Amino acid sequence: MKPTQLWIFFSLFGTAILQSNTDVQSLLTQLFTTNNYNTLIRPSTNQSAPKEIDISFNLYGITDVDEIEQKLTTTGWLVITWKDDLLTWTPASYNGLDKLYLPQGNVWKPDVSLQNGFSELEELGSKFIQVYVHSSGYIMWRPFQVFETKCDLDSKYFPFDEQKCHLIFVSWSHSSEDISLTQTSNGIDLSDELESHGEWKITSSSATSELEGVISKVKFTIVIKRKPLYMIMNIILPIILLALLDIFTFKIPADTGERLGYTITVWLSFAVFLTIVSDSLPQTSESVPIVSVYIIIQLFMGTLVVLISTVEAGLVANPDSVPVYKMLRFLALRLRRNNVKSSEDTVMKIDPEISEVTWKEAITAVDTCLFLICMGIFFITTLICFLIVAL
Ligand SMILES: *[C@@H]1O[C@H](CO)[C@@H](O)[C@H](O)[C@H]1NC(C)=O
Repeated sequence: MKPTQLWIFFSLFGTAILQSNTDVQSLLTQLFTTNNYNTLIRPSTNQSAPKEIDISFNLYGITDVDEIEQKLTTTGWLVITWKDDLLTWTPASYNGLDKLYLPQGNVWKPDVSLQNGFSELEELGSKFIQVYVHSSGYIMWRPFQVFETKCDLDSKYFPFDEQKCHLIFVSWSHSSEDISLTQTSNGIDLSDELESHGEWKITSSSATSELEGVISKVKFTIVIKRKPLYMIMNIILPIILLALLDIFTFKIPADTGERLGYTITVWLSFAVFLTIVSDSLPQTSESVPIVSVYIIIQLFMGTLVVLISTVEAGLVANPDSVPVYKMLRFLALRLRRNNVKSSEDTVMKIDPEISEVTWKEAITAVDTCLFLICMGIFFITTLICFLIVAL
Protein backbone atom coordinates (compact mmCIF):
# COMPACT_ATOMS: atom_id res chain seq x y z
CA MET A 1 0.00 0.00 0.00
CA LYS A 2 1.33 3.43 -0.90
CA PRO A 3 1.69 5.88 2.00
CA THR A 4 -0.93 8.16 0.49
CA GLN A 5 -3.36 5.28 0.35
CA LEU A 6 -2.58 4.48 3.96
CA TRP A 7 -3.33 8.04 4.92
CA ILE A 8 -6.68 8.04 3.23
CA PHE A 9 -7.43 4.70 4.83
CA PHE A 10 -6.63 5.92 8.30
CA SER A 11 -8.23 9.31 8.00
CA LEU A 12 -11.51 7.74 6.80
CA PHE A 13 -11.52 5.71 9.97
CA GLY A 14 -10.90 8.74 12.10
CA THR A 15 -13.65 10.99 10.81
CA ALA A 16 -16.57 8.91 12.05
CA ILE A 17 -16.79 10.62 15.44
CA LEU A 18 -15.84 14.15 16.27
CA GLN A 19 -13.16 14.63 18.86
CA SER A 20 -12.41 17.68 20.89
CA ASN A 21 -9.12 19.13 22.00
CA THR A 22 -9.63 17.66 25.47
CA ASP A 23 -9.64 14.18 23.98
CA VAL A 24 -6.23 14.86 22.50
CA GLN A 25 -5.12 16.41 25.76
CA SER A 26 -6.19 13.44 27.85
CA LEU A 27 -4.64 11.02 25.37
CA LEU A 28 -1.32 12.86 25.56
CA THR A 29 -1.50 12.86 29.34
CA GLN A 30 -2.27 9.18 29.32
CA LEU A 31 0.62 8.31 27.00
CA PHE A 32 3.31 10.64 28.22
CA THR A 33 2.50 11.21 31.89
CA THR A 34 0.60 8.19 33.13
CA ASN A 35 2.34 5.62 30.93
CA ASN A 36 5.55 7.63 31.17
CA TYR A 37 6.55 7.02 27.55
CA ASN A 38 10.30 7.03 27.24
CA THR A 39 11.97 7.65 23.87
CA LEU A 40 15.00 5.69 25.06
CA ILE A 41 13.14 2.40 25.19
CA ARG A 42 13.00 0.31 22.05
CA PRO A 43 9.23 0.03 21.73
CA SER A 44 8.79 -3.73 21.98
CA THR A 45 7.04 -5.53 24.77
CA ASN A 46 9.40 -8.40 23.97
CA GLN A 47 12.88 -6.92 24.08
CA SER A 48 14.45 -10.17 22.84
CA ALA A 49 12.74 -9.89 19.47
CA PRO A 50 14.13 -7.56 16.80
CA LYS A 51 12.06 -4.52 15.90
CA GLU A 52 11.03 -4.62 12.27
CA ILE A 53 11.41 -1.35 10.44
CA ASP A 54 10.10 -0.95 6.93
CA ILE A 55 11.79 1.55 4.66
CA SER A 56 10.76 2.76 1.27
CA PHE A 57 12.24 5.52 -0.79
CA ASN A 58 10.46 8.12 -2.86
CA LEU A 59 12.72 9.80 -5.32
CA TYR A 60 11.91 13.40 -6.10
CA GLY A 61 14.78 14.08 -8.44
CA ILE A 62 18.41 13.74 -9.28
CA THR A 63 20.20 16.92 -8.37
CA ASP A 64 23.71 16.20 -9.47
CA VAL A 65 25.98 13.52 -10.81
CA ASP A 66 29.57 14.47 -10.14
CA GLU A 67 32.11 12.39 -12.05
CA ILE A 68 35.06 14.15 -10.47
CA GLU A 69 34.05 13.55 -6.87
CA GLN A 70 32.26 10.31 -7.71
CA LYS A 71 29.14 11.57 -6.04
CA LEU A 72 25.43 11.26 -6.68
CA THR A 73 23.08 13.78 -5.17
CA THR A 74 19.43 12.88 -5.01
CA THR A 75 16.45 14.51 -3.41
CA GLY A 76 13.64 12.46 -1.99
CA TRP A 77 12.06 11.18 1.13
CA LEU A 78 12.05 7.96 3.03
CA VAL A 79 8.89 6.45 4.36
CA ILE A 80 9.88 4.61 7.52
CA THR A 81 7.21 2.65 9.31
CA TRP A 82 7.19 0.45 12.39
CA LYS A 83 4.98 -0.62 15.22
CA ASP A 84 5.43 1.05 18.57
CA ASP A 85 4.03 -1.34 21.20
CA LEU A 86 4.11 1.42 23.80
CA LEU A 87 2.12 4.01 21.87
CA THR A 88 -1.19 2.21 21.61
CA TRP A 89 -4.56 3.15 22.95
CA THR A 90 -8.23 2.33 22.54
CA PRO A 91 -9.83 4.99 20.34
CA ALA A 92 -13.22 4.38 21.98
CA SER A 93 -11.92 5.85 25.25
CA TYR A 94 -11.04 9.10 23.48
CA ASN A 95 -14.17 9.70 21.44
CA GLY A 96 -12.77 7.67 18.59
CA LEU A 97 -9.51 9.62 18.43
CA ASP A 98 -7.24 7.22 16.62
CA LYS A 99 -4.29 9.22 15.40
CA LEU A 100 -1.77 11.71 16.62
CA TYR A 101 1.00 13.74 15.08
CA LEU A 102 4.07 14.10 17.25
CA PRO A 103 7.39 15.83 16.63
CA GLN A 104 9.97 13.25 15.59
CA GLY A 105 11.98 13.86 18.75
CA ASN A 106 9.10 12.86 21.01
CA VAL A 107 8.88 9.24 19.98
CA TRP A 108 11.43 6.48 19.77
CA LYS A 109 12.72 6.24 16.24
CA PRO A 110 15.30 4.01 14.61
CA ASP A 111 18.74 5.46 13.94
CA VAL A 112 18.46 4.84 10.23
CA SER A 113 21.23 6.50 8.28
CA LEU A 114 22.89 6.47 4.93
CA GLN A 115 25.79 4.01 4.99
CA ASN A 116 27.48 5.16 1.80
CA GLY A 117 26.90 8.83 2.45
CA PHE A 118 29.28 11.41 1.13
CA SER A 119 29.18 13.83 3.99
CA GLU A 120 28.98 13.59 7.74
CA LEU A 121 26.60 11.14 9.35
CA GLU A 122 23.50 13.01 10.43
CA GLU A 123 20.17 12.31 11.95
CA LEU A 124 17.53 12.02 9.29
CA GLY A 125 14.68 14.45 9.15
CA SER A 126 14.54 17.54 11.27
CA LYS A 127 12.94 18.75 14.48
CA PHE A 128 9.85 20.12 12.79
CA ILE A 129 8.95 16.89 11.03
CA GLN A 130 6.08 15.13 12.74
CA VAL A 131 5.48 11.43 12.80
CA TYR A 132 2.08 9.92 12.27
CA VAL A 133 0.96 7.70 15.13
CA HIS A 134 -2.03 5.41 14.84
CA SER A 135 -3.82 3.96 17.85
CA SER A 136 -2.65 0.48 16.85
CA GLY A 137 0.92 1.63 17.37
CA TYR A 138 1.62 2.02 13.67
CA ILE A 139 4.08 4.86 13.16
CA MET A 140 5.03 6.54 9.94
CA TRP A 141 7.97 8.88 9.68
CA ARG A 142 8.75 10.62 6.41
CA PRO A 143 12.08 12.45 6.54
CA PHE A 144 12.74 14.51 3.43
CA GLN A 145 16.38 14.73 2.58
CA VAL A 146 19.04 15.62 0.06
CA PHE A 147 21.05 12.44 -0.11
CA GLU A 148 24.67 12.64 -1.13
CA THR A 149 26.04 9.21 -1.85
CA LYS A 150 29.33 7.82 -3.00
CA CYS A 151 28.90 6.20 -6.36
CA ASP A 152 31.48 4.53 -8.55
CA LEU A 153 30.98 6.34 -11.82
CA ASP A 154 32.65 4.66 -14.73
CA SER A 155 33.00 7.10 -17.59
CA LYS A 156 34.69 4.73 -20.00
CA TYR A 157 31.79 4.88 -22.41
CA PHE A 158 31.20 8.62 -22.03
CA PRO A 159 28.91 10.11 -23.39
CA PHE A 160 26.87 6.92 -23.84
CA ASP A 161 27.46 5.72 -20.31
CA GLU A 162 25.08 4.16 -17.87
CA GLN A 163 25.70 4.37 -14.15
CA LYS A 164 24.47 2.29 -11.28
CA CYS A 165 24.33 3.91 -7.89
CA HIS A 166 23.23 2.61 -4.53
CA LEU A 167 21.70 4.25 -1.52
CA ILE A 168 22.31 1.96 1.41
CA PHE A 169 20.46 2.53 4.64
CA VAL A 170 21.46 0.86 7.89
CA SER A 171 20.54 1.16 11.49
CA TRP A 172 23.83 2.68 12.49
CA SER A 173 24.13 1.57 16.12
CA HIS A 174 21.96 -1.51 16.30
CA SER A 175 22.64 -5.03 15.19
CA SER A 176 20.06 -7.09 13.36
CA GLU A 177 19.14 -8.72 16.68
CA ASP A 178 17.67 -5.43 17.80
CA ILE A 179 16.52 -3.76 14.64
CA SER A 180 15.80 -5.47 11.39
CA LEU A 181 15.32 -3.34 8.33
CA THR A 182 12.99 -4.56 5.63
CA GLN A 183 11.50 -3.13 2.52
CA THR A 184 8.24 -4.10 0.96
CA SER A 185 8.25 -1.72 -1.98
CA ASN A 186 9.31 -2.68 -5.48
CA GLY A 187 12.36 -0.58 -6.04
CA ILE A 188 12.21 3.13 -5.67
CA ASP A 189 8.94 4.94 -5.76
CA LEU A 190 9.44 7.55 -8.42
CA SER A 191 7.46 10.50 -7.25
CA ASP A 192 4.75 11.66 -9.63
CA GLU A 193 6.38 15.06 -9.69
CA LEU A 194 9.77 13.53 -10.44
CA GLU A 195 11.95 16.35 -11.62
CA SER A 196 13.69 15.43 -14.82
CA HIS A 197 17.39 16.06 -15.00
CA GLY A 198 18.87 17.71 -18.06
CA GLU A 199 21.67 15.27 -18.51
CA TRP A 200 20.52 12.03 -16.93
CA LYS A 201 17.46 9.90 -17.08
CA ILE A 202 16.51 7.11 -14.73
CA THR A 203 16.22 3.81 -16.52
CA SER A 204 15.44 1.46 -13.67
CA SER A 205 15.55 1.03 -9.94
CA SER A 206 15.40 -1.77 -7.43
CA ALA A 207 15.38 -2.32 -3.69
CA THR A 208 16.63 -5.20 -1.60
CA SER A 209 17.03 -5.81 2.07
CA GLU A 210 19.99 -7.86 3.04
CA LEU A 211 21.85 -9.06 6.07
CA GLU A 212 25.59 -8.51 6.14
CA GLY A 213 26.97 -10.15 9.25
CA VAL A 214 24.90 -8.64 12.01
CA ILE A 215 24.13 -5.51 10.05
CA SER A 216 20.73 -5.32 8.52
CA LYS A 217 20.57 -3.02 5.54
CA VAL A 218 18.23 -1.85 2.84
CA LYS A 219 19.79 -1.10 -0.50
CA PHE A 220 18.13 1.06 -3.13
CA THR A 221 19.66 0.97 -6.57
CA ILE A 222 19.21 3.57 -9.27
CA VAL A 223 20.37 3.02 -12.83
CA ILE A 224 20.79 6.24 -14.75
CA LYS A 225 21.69 6.84 -18.35
CA ARG A 226 23.26 9.93 -19.79
CA LYS A 227 21.40 11.82 -22.47
CA PRO A 228 24.23 12.10 -24.99
CA LEU A 229 22.95 14.81 -27.32
CA TYR A 230 24.49 17.79 -25.53
CA MET A 231 27.92 16.19 -25.25
CA ILE A 232 27.85 15.07 -28.88
CA MET A 233 26.96 18.54 -30.11
CA ASN A 234 29.40 20.39 -27.90
CA ILE A 235 32.37 18.08 -27.60
CA ILE A 236 32.41 15.21 -30.04
CA LEU A 237 31.27 17.01 -33.18
CA PRO A 238 33.71 19.96 -32.94
CA ILE A 239 36.61 17.55 -32.41
CA ILE A 240 35.65 15.54 -35.48
CA LEU A 241 35.33 18.72 -37.55
CA LEU A 242 38.69 20.04 -36.39
CA ALA A 243 40.35 16.72 -37.16
CA LEU A 244 38.83 16.81 -40.63
CA LEU A 245 40.06 20.36 -41.15
CA ASP A 246 43.54 19.26 -40.20
CA ILE A 247 43.68 16.53 -42.82
CA PHE A 248 42.87 19.00 -45.59
CA THR A 249 46.23 20.65 -44.95
CA PHE A 250 47.58 18.20 -47.53
CA LYS A 251 45.38 19.76 -50.19
CA ILE A 252 47.19 23.10 -49.90
CA PRO A 253 50.29 23.35 -52.12
CA ALA A 254 53.40 22.98 -50.01
CA ASP A 255 55.15 25.93 -51.55
CA THR A 256 52.56 28.48 -50.48
CA GLY A 257 53.35 30.28 -47.30
CA GLU A 258 49.77 29.95 -46.04
CA ARG A 259 50.05 26.25 -45.47
CA LEU A 260 52.14 26.35 -42.30
CA GLY A 261 49.96 29.12 -40.97
CA TYR A 262 46.87 27.04 -41.64
CA THR A 263 48.16 23.91 -39.86
CA ILE A 264 49.35 25.88 -36.87
CA THR A 265 45.99 27.65 -36.62
CA VAL A 266 44.11 24.38 -36.70
CA TRP A 267 46.47 22.88 -34.13
CA LEU A 268 46.03 25.89 -31.85
CA SER A 269 42.25 25.77 -32.04
CA PHE A 270 42.53 22.10 -31.21
CA ALA A 271 44.61 22.88 -28.13
CA VAL A 272 42.36 25.72 -27.02
CA PHE A 273 39.30 23.57 -27.54
CA LEU A 274 40.84 20.77 -25.52
CA THR A 275 41.33 22.97 -22.48
CA ILE A 276 37.68 23.97 -22.68
CA VAL A 277 36.53 20.41 -23.17
CA SER A 278 38.65 18.86 -20.46
CA ASP A 279 36.45 20.51 -17.84
CA SER A 280 33.39 18.67 -19.06
CA LEU A 281 35.17 15.37 -19.30
CA PRO A 282 35.34 13.05 -16.34
CA GLN A 283 38.69 13.48 -14.68
CA THR A 284 39.79 10.09 -13.53
CA SER A 285 42.73 7.84 -14.13
CA GLU A 286 40.87 4.72 -13.05
CA SER A 287 39.37 4.01 -16.41
CA VAL A 288 40.24 6.39 -19.19
CA PRO A 289 37.21 7.42 -21.23
CA ILE A 290 37.38 6.30 -24.85
CA VAL A 291 36.64 9.90 -25.82
CA SER A 292 39.86 11.06 -24.17
CA VAL A 293 41.81 8.43 -26.07
CA TYR A 294 40.18 9.61 -29.27
CA ILE A 295 41.06 13.23 -28.57
CA ILE A 296 44.66 12.27 -27.86
CA ILE A 297 44.87 10.33 -31.13
CA GLN A 298 43.54 13.32 -33.06
CA LEU A 299 45.87 15.73 -31.29
CA PHE A 300 48.78 13.40 -32.03
CA MET A 301 47.80 13.32 -35.70
CA GLY A 302 47.47 17.09 -35.72
CA THR A 303 50.98 17.46 -34.32
CA LEU A 304 52.29 15.05 -36.93
CA VAL A 305 50.64 17.09 -39.68
CA VAL A 306 52.37 20.24 -38.44
CA LEU A 307 55.75 18.48 -38.35
CA ILE A 308 55.33 16.97 -41.82
CA SER A 309 54.26 20.32 -43.22
CA THR A 310 57.34 21.96 -41.79
CA VAL A 311 59.66 19.36 -43.30
CA GLU A 312 57.84 19.55 -46.62
CA ALA A 313 58.09 23.33 -46.68
CA GLY A 314 61.85 22.92 -46.34
CA LEU A 315 62.11 20.32 -49.08
CA VAL A 316 59.96 22.10 -51.61
CA ALA A 317 62.27 25.09 -51.37
CA ASN A 318 65.17 22.99 -52.67
CA PRO A 319 66.46 24.16 -56.04
CA ASP A 320 65.93 21.65 -58.83
CA SER A 321 69.69 21.15 -59.07
CA VAL A 322 69.46 19.14 -55.87
CA PRO A 323 68.40 15.62 -56.87
CA VAL A 324 65.05 14.44 -55.59
CA TYR A 325 65.26 11.60 -53.04
CA LYS A 326 64.92 8.20 -54.69
CA MET A 327 61.85 7.27 -52.65
CA LEU A 328 60.07 10.49 -53.47
CA ARG A 329 60.93 10.17 -57.14
CA PHE A 330 59.60 6.65 -57.24
CA LEU A 331 56.40 7.79 -55.58
CA ALA A 332 55.97 10.74 -57.94
CA LEU A 333 56.51 8.56 -61.02
CA ARG A 334 54.01 5.97 -59.83
CA LEU A 335 51.46 8.68 -59.29
CA ARG A 336 52.20 10.30 -62.65
CA ARG A 337 51.67 6.98 -64.38
CA ASN A 338 48.33 6.51 -62.60
CA ASN A 339 47.19 9.99 -63.54
CA VAL A 340 48.09 9.47 -67.19
CA LYS A 341 46.23 6.16 -67.27
CA SER A 342 43.12 7.63 -65.77
CA SER A 343 43.04 10.56 -68.21
CA GLU A 344 43.91 9.08 -71.58
CA ASP A 345 42.10 11.79 -73.46
CA THR A 346 43.92 14.78 -72.00
CA VAL A 347 45.79 16.93 -74.35
CA MET A 348 48.61 17.44 -71.96
CA LYS A 349 49.70 13.89 -72.10
CA ILE A 350 52.95 13.57 -70.23
CA ASP A 351 55.21 10.76 -71.05
CA PRO A 352 55.36 8.80 -67.82
CA GLU A 353 58.80 7.56 -68.69
CA ILE A 354 60.35 10.99 -68.58
CA SER A 355 62.12 10.59 -65.30
CA GLU A 356 62.55 14.28 -64.70
CA VAL A 357 60.83 14.91 -61.34
CA THR A 358 60.81 18.31 -59.66
CA TRP A 359 60.74 18.74 -55.91
CA LYS A 360 57.34 20.31 -56.18
CA GLU A 361 55.90 17.32 -57.99
CA ALA A 362 57.48 14.93 -55.52
CA ILE A 363 56.06 16.78 -52.53
CA THR A 364 52.64 16.96 -54.17
CA ALA A 365 52.79 13.20 -54.61
CA VAL A 366 53.67 12.78 -50.95
CA ASP A 367 50.76 15.05 -50.01
CA THR A 368 48.34 13.02 -52.07
CA CYS A 369 49.42 9.84 -50.31
CA LEU A 370 49.39 11.43 -46.85
CA PHE A 371 45.93 12.84 -47.46
CA LEU A 372 44.58 9.39 -48.21
CA ILE A 373 46.45 7.78 -45.29
CA CYS A 374 45.30 10.42 -42.79
CA MET A 375 41.74 10.22 -44.07
CA GLY A 376 41.89 6.45 -43.62
CA ILE A 377 43.25 6.68 -40.08
CA PHE A 378 40.68 9.32 -39.24
CA PHE A 379 37.74 7.26 -40.46
CA ILE A 380 38.97 4.04 -38.88
CA THR A 381 39.70 5.57 -35.45
CA THR A 382 36.42 7.48 -35.48
CA LEU A 383 34.47 4.40 -36.42
CA ILE A 384 36.20 2.14 -33.90
CA CYS A 385 35.78 4.63 -31.06
CA PHE A 386 32.16 5.20 -31.95
CA LEU A 387 31.41 1.50 -32.12
CA ILE A 388 33.13 0.77 -28.79
CA VAL A 389 31.34 3.60 -27.03
CA ALA A 390 27.88 3.35 -28.53
CA LEU A 391 27.41 -0.41 -28.56
C1 LIG B 1 10.33 -12.89 22.44
O1 LIG B 1 11.06 -13.02 21.24
C2 LIG B 1 11.89 -14.12 21.13
C3 LIG B 1 12.70 -14.02 19.86
O2 LIG B 1 11.88 -13.80 18.78
C4 LIG B 1 11.08 -15.40 21.21
O3 LIG B 1 11.93 -16.51 21.15
C5 LIG B 1 10.27 -15.38 22.47
O4 LIG B 1 9.40 -16.49 22.51
C6 LIG B 1 9.46 -14.10 22.62
N1 LIG B 1 8.84 -14.05 23.93
C7 LIG B 1 7.54 -13.82 24.08
C8 LIG B 1 7.07 -13.76 25.50
O5 LIG B 1 6.80 -13.66 23.13
